[in-house]
Amino acid sequence: MYDEMCAVSVKPPVSPVASSLERPKKPTMSQAPFARGLHWLKLPTAEAVAQQAANIIADQLAQKPNASLVFPTGNTPLGMYAQLRQKNDINWEKSRLFQLDEYVQPAFDGPLPYQTFAEFMQNELWRFVGGQKFYMAQYFECPAAYEALVTKDHGPDLVILGIGKNGHIAFNEPGSQPDAPSRIVDLAPLTRISNFADPNQPGLPTQAITLGLKAILSARHILMLATGSGKQDIVATAFNPHTPPDSNCPASWLKQHPNVTLLTDF
Ligand code: GLP
Repeated sequence: MYDEMCAVSVKPPVSPVASSLERPKKPTMSQAPFARGLHWLKLPTAEAVAQQAANIIADQLAQKPNASLVFPTGNTPLGMYAQLRQKNDINWEKSRLFQLDEYVQPAFDGPLPYQTFAEFMQNELWRFVGGQKFYMAQYFECPAAYEALVTKDHGPDLVILGIGKNGHIAFNEPGSQPDAPSRIVDLAPLTRISNFADPNQPGLPTQAITLGLKAILSARHILMLATGSGKQDIVATAFNPHTPPDSNCPASWLKQHPNVTLLTDF
């Protein structure tokens, strides 16, 4: 790592002839000390992000039909699920499909289109495809058992993530360490504000079960989607290649992973 840092910060001597011809190159992601496993594709539109994400999932299943995949909820991946529903040539039969997180208490009468993330996954994708589906609500008493299923065979093949405005991934809220286990968590105030039209409405969830950072980071490939100007700042913070990961921004731990694809429309 220090060699890489030196490569960025220490400029080699330049001959007068060369210096008149060449401008110093800005450090690229691969030269920067952190986030060396990051492949950031900046695409023109959210639809292009959705298409690219669906293609990556299709390629994964073409290469490994029995792949284990972990899926997110939220507004960001809706386009990806729409694209996947249209892809009739994916064979899902041998796949193992997991949730990333789930509210502990269903959001009854809430403003959400879905009261549980299981319902979200079921309606957006899982009822249209084959494969073995694993529902997190059956593991509230033992999140470690869900984690064991996800990480069987040396970790999931592909974890797909969004990002919260506070840098959370799944429901690993600020303060989460990279070895965080799968567990029940209290939702951060900003998460409740982002996820509920009126977070003070009685009966809305205050807790969730989440796949822990340790399980997420054990994936062979991590695919993160971030779209819209509201995510620009947190993505820049999380993936700043010149600052070390920091538990104040849990997504920044992805900089330690060797194979992260980030798709954005900015
Ligand atoms: C939720 C989920 C995350 C998701 C995030 C962003 O709280 N737990 O998995 O990535 O919020 O959601 P959105 O895509 O709607 O901004």
